[in-house]
Amino acid sequence: MPVIRFVREGRDVECYPGENLREVALREGVELYGLKGKLGNCGGCGQCITCFVEVVGESCPDSLSGRTAVEEQKLRRRPEGWRLACQALVQHSVLVLTRPQVGLQGSESLITAAKAQPLPAGPTAWPVVENEEPDDEDGGEDTDAAQAPGVSQSATSGEEP
Ligand code: FES
Repeated sequence: MPVIRFVREGRDVECYPGENLREVALREGVELYGLKGKLGNCGGCGQCITCFVEVVGESCPDSLSGRTAVEEQKLRRRPEGWRLACQALVQHSVLVLTRPQVGLQGSESLITAAKAQPLPAGPTAWPVVENEEPDDEDGGEDTDAAQAPGVSQSATSGEEP
């Protein structure tokens, strides 16, 4: 799996190729937003420009998907390495600085240290899930499964008791 190295947080997080960077960060508890974004963000549709991240180091050039048309417009006056996390899909391992607009004490040494440790490439495909055999021993339909506990069959079928 690709690894996202979050420099500010000092964390490596694995994800599947093609996962959305914002969704991975939120799932892993990595704070993407400053105060404005916490109070109200667009939910990932590229309109609020509060989910800035910066790709740092010599990450693979295609570590993230290319800039979307939304990013081309919204990031016109921002540094070249900045992205909107909600628009970026993770293709390969990458070093990322969250909230690059916010100062980070000792950022140079943190970035240097993050770059010094090699990023594992990991597998580049989603795992294949084998079809599971039904675990029903008698092979028959499980009529009780759809019935809520304590609810009679007549109540769920709409019949009068
Ligand atoms: S979450 Fe609004 S632009 Fe990314």
